[in-house]
Amino acid sequence: MSQRAYNFNPGPSTLPLPVLEQASKDILDYRGCGMGILEVSHRSPEFMAVAERTEALIRELMQVPDNYKVLFLQGGASTQFAMVPLNILPPGGRAAYLNTGTWAKKAIKEARLVGDIQVAYSSEETSFDHVPAANDYEIDDGCEYLYLVSNNTIYGTQFHEFPDKGLMLVADMSSDILSRPVDVSRFGIIFAGAQKNMGPAGVTVVIVRDDLLDRAPDTLPTMFRYRTHADKGSMFNTPPCFAIHVVGLTMQWLKDQGGVEEMARQNEKKARLLYDAIDASPFYRGHAREGSRSLMNVTFNLPTPELEAKFVAEAAGAGLKGLKGHRSIGGCRASIYNAFPAEGVERLVEFMADFEKKNG
Ligand SMILES: Cc1ncc(COP(=O)(O)O)c(C=O)c1O
Repeated sequence: MSQRAYNFNPGPSTLPLPVLEQASKDILDYRGCGMGILEVSHRSPEFMAVAERTEALIRELMQVPDNYKVLFLQGGASTQFAMVPLNILPPGGRAAYLNTGTWAKKAIKEARLVGDIQVAYSSEETSFDHVPAANDYEIDDGCEYLYLVSNNTIYGTQFHEFPDKGLMLVADMSSDILSRPVDVSRFGIIFAGAQKNMGPAGVTVVIVRDDLLDRAPDTLPTMFRYRTHADKGSMFNTPPCFAIHVVGLTMQWLKDQGGVEEMARQNEKKARLLYDAIDASPFYRGHAREGSRSLMNVTFNLPTPELEAKFVAEAAGAGLKGLKGHRSIGGCRASIYNAFPAEGVERLVEFMADFEKKNG
């Protein structure tokens, strides 16, 4: 095997090596059954056990209360932008959204096709460099839920506290699920594309409270209803079997590491190292405001776009890959999810100091 790069990509992103090793063995032969995991029926005892184990691990790691379903769906997190309002907002009903970046904006656009959406706060004017504190905004009367993106992957901001506005929360946790403990009972729905902190692309995990399963209007087609998938244990149709399997392996790895509390401790340490390096130098400039800084996606700029391009290219040459910022804001971004090793952050910090010496 060639030397593994330090992979700073935002998603799909780095996975734990033991997970990849186990997954590759399972492709050839799944637990001695004479078939690979890609080949077994989703109705087989082998795969049913995979799905059950994966769900049980998510429940255990996130301490999901019994009155919530954990669903494995397709269509990416982006499909949830529509499924959430279609399922829980009566036509013309109201909901409040916090506009903290590209993914929030896309969710707002979809929700507006269904209901009356109040954008209670927007940080767009300052290039989405922060998330609001709860007392920065008011919610209109009659809203059914407050929607937020817990970690803004592109801009590198994150909610470090969730707002308490006496309203059910709905959260897109695609880029920070399982990176820290979260009180699931404060949320009506949590969803996340798996391809950042949970496994490969292809499956979206949706955690939905039971009482929200029957709010959808009769006109909503079958596949778009949470109830359909909840009733069939996410097997109404063929689920993304392999992606679910790899999520299961990643959950087991996460549990073996010490669970979400330990992840939070490691994530804080990794992010602090990088933010300290940014703060210590006038050459690097962090994008996110201090209280909103993401522990998952660290966004920063160099003095010029030319230097940024050179930085990204030379870093890649040194085995530090995927540091280019999202095309919408440019600059650099280091995505350091759960599976990203601390040594990779140390290597990046060394590289940054060296690059500054030569180019500063
Ligand atoms: C916070 C967030 N939400 C939603 C998405 C969209 O996910 P998907 O590509 O699975 O639709 C992304 C993708 O990067 C994301 O970071």
